[in-house]
Amino acid sequence: FDLTDHNTFGLGSRAQYGAVVAGTEDIEAIVEFAASERLPLHVIGGGSNVLLRERIEGVVALMAIKGRHVIGRQDGGVLVKAEAGEDWPDFVEWAVRQGFGGLENLAGIPGTVGAAPVQNIGAYGVELKDRFQCLTAYDCLERTVCSFGPEDCRFAYRHSAFKEVPGRYVILDVTLVLPEPWQPILGYKGLDSLPADTDVLTVMERVLELRRGKLPDWRVLGNAGSFFHNPIVAAEVAEGIAGGPRYPQADGRVKLSAAWLIEACGLKGMRQGEAGVHEGHALILVNHGKATYSDLDRLASTVQAAVKERFGVDLVREPIAV
Ligand code: EPU
Repeated sequence: FDLTDHNTFGLGSRAQYGAVVAGTEDIEAIVEFAASERLPLHVIGGGSNVLLRERIEGVVALMAIKGRHVIGRQDGGVLVKAEAGEDWPDFVEWAVRQGFGGLENLAGIPGTVGAAPVQNIGAYGVELKDRFQCLTAYDCLERTVCSFGPEDCRFAYRHSAFKEVPGRYVILDVTLVLPEPWQPILGYKGLDSLPADTDVLTVMERVLELRRGKLPDWRVLGNAGSFFHNPIVAAEVAEGIAGGPRYPQADGRVKLSAAWLIEACGLKGMRQGEAGVHEGHALILVNHGKATYSDLDRLASTVQAAVKERFGVDLVREPIAV
């Protein structure tokens, strides 16, 4: 089952077995098949946050359940429910074009709705958790459908409960609450020049413009967005590092810019074979053409070792290795 066209890195990859999940019934059958064959099961959405090996033992299921609806209103907002296989950027645009605000800062993030809660996607001052109401998932262990509220998800920066037990839950649909009345969130550099009475569409267009200016389009140059988390370190560690942005956290720790640390090591734009550090943004690793899993894995290790050696900071990888 060829996955080359199912990952935004564009890595050549084949799985032993492949399946498409078009409805909830399919996931039960796929889980049953994998269990009876004693094979690992990996569910992928848009393939925008995975690092695929050339040969994957087991079953890879592509999440393709579609649908999105306004399901009601409650105090504070409109409830919108989207199925896991919906394309996230399309979904955001759909909501914005209907006049619903709240997701515009998260426009243009590649991937699916079902993948969004897993890493609690975030950009330009908004995280998925800020709009989250609940989700439905299939529990592969108990073989039942269950629901998760905000607390159950344990959202944090680029983190959720789903990362703690990889493979256990398959997210089926996500319900978000879009705030009414709406207020723009314009704190991030690049959005701060918009007037306070701006509209939802204008904010979305500016976000898309900012992204186009900084982030390579995976259709042109394979990538998985930020390859590393911005490290959150103790205040003493941050004090020992001269220069670079720092974002103080509520718990006293400090979030640093991984892109800055990588650039300060002189690695921006460097290449190792077909894999490279993007010349426009040091946090993004790219496939210059025929890179493989091993090329990217090696390059990522080189970057991690350099940052550790120079600054004593451990960079955590974002894409999930399959
Ligand atoms: N910077 C550098 N060198 C670079 C790029 C950036 O030194 O090559 C420094 C600059 O000082 C810049 C700062 O890093 O001001 C922050 O850069 P940017 O605004 O691009 O944000 P980021 O921290 O690198 C995060 C998210 C992005 C998200 C942007 C905007 C993570 C891991 N990444 O990047 O998310 O779009 O903020 O909110 O938190 C993703 O996760 O795939 C992703 C693209």
